[in-house]
Amino acid sequence: MFDFDTLVERKSDKCRKWDHQFVCSRFGDVPADFIPLWIADMDFMSPPAVIDGFQRIVQHGTFGYTWCFDEFYDAVIGFQRDRHQAAVDKSWITLTYGTVSTLHYTVQAFCQPGDCIMMNTPVYDPFAMAAQRQGVRVLANPLKAVDNRYELDVELIEHQLNTERPKLWFFCSPHNPSGRIWRADEIRLVSDLCKRYGVILMVDEVHAEHILDGQFVSCLTPGGAALDNLIVLTSPNKAFNLGGLKTSYAMIPDDALRQRFRQQLEKNSITSPNVFGVWGIILAYQQGLPWLDALNGYLQSNARYLADAIKTHFPHWRMMNPESSYLAWIDISEDTMSATGLTEHFARRAGVVIEDGSHYVQNGENYLRINFGTQRSRLEQALERMHNVHRR
Ligand SMILES: Cc1ncc(COP(=O)(O)O)c(C=O)c1O
Repeated sequence: MFDFDTLVERKSDKCRKWDHQFVCSRFGDVPADFIPLWIADMDFMSPPAVIDGFQRIVQHGTFGYTWCFDEFYDAVIGFQRDRHQAAVDKSWITLTYGTVSTLHYTVQAFCQPGDCIMMNTPVYDPFAMAAQRQGVRVLANPLKAVDNRYELDVELIEHQLNTERPKLWFFCSPHNPSGRIWRADEIRLVSDLCKRYGVILMVDEVHAEHILDGQFVSCLTPGGAALDNLIVLTSPNKAFNLGGLKTSYAMIPDDALRQRFRQQLEKNSITSPNVFGVWGIILAYQQGLPWLDALNGYLQSNARYLADAIKTHFPHWRMMNPESSYLAWIDISEDTMSATGLTEHFARRAGVVIEDGSHYVQNGENYLRINFGTQRSRLEQALERMHNVHRR
């Protein structure tokens, strides 16, 4: 019913992933016929219902200032309820200009220079940027790889909370880069620790929509996290490939926290939405779900293919099971080349652009990250090219 196999021409759309000039500025000289499997952006067109909806707006031809009208709130409430069993009240929701920007405003709203923020590493690099750009320290708590799956180091966390007293805990759920889905008891534990040590819990649920193996638990489900010290950030950007719309939202149940957060947004006049951004959320959440379900099936199959190809061609690498998302996290510590050496080698020699894990916040140095959110034939071609140039 949905076609994820046809190659979509993206070199002309000025996206960072496919723009040769941009890619060379990041990765050095890369051949013109390169295959990009790096930045978290998929090579699929957005759901037909979203494209049709945008076409109607364009056809109408007026793009005046807009506002957060009821359909926006209804879409978010309905989506969170039906997809994640989360009971969200309209008053909790605040539209924002992208999750990454919102991480920055959150730090500005709740921290002073010299404070610190707990995060479980390796983790998505803007978590650290958002802190450091405000003069706030990163309190890194390394995840433990147990049987090639990440686990929280609870003892160390409690020690760090007690001695460092961070203001915020940035918790990535599901976790980027590994795709690890946190269980309900783990979420409750994180929430309980935040309560005990007076830490505000900020949960980034951006990767919640691509669940490939397991069951996502929203911290807003009944019995999830405590609601009185919680900030949840998310967006439809990963799920429906809408990153360029730069629109997202926060859900904050507690009145006082929400007020402080909104004051910070108002200081920067982050009040009225981008017309395509607000409609993008409505269209995707209300009409994009059959597409999303079909896509997740496709991604599951790509993940299986990639795991098999790595076992066959690179048997000394170890890929974590991507329980969610379309990013593979691969331990290459047994390779004779470093992760940076491998990414350079693949980019120059094979024209395959992947990322090494060192740009993540800590503990990613021995990992490669491969974005498998692309057409299967392209993924196969990339793996073949990598295999052809690789010498252990
Ligand atoms: C954990 C995480 N949060 C946020 C984002 C970006 O979200 P947005 O497009 O809403 O800024 C990403 C993108 O890769 C991500 O991995």
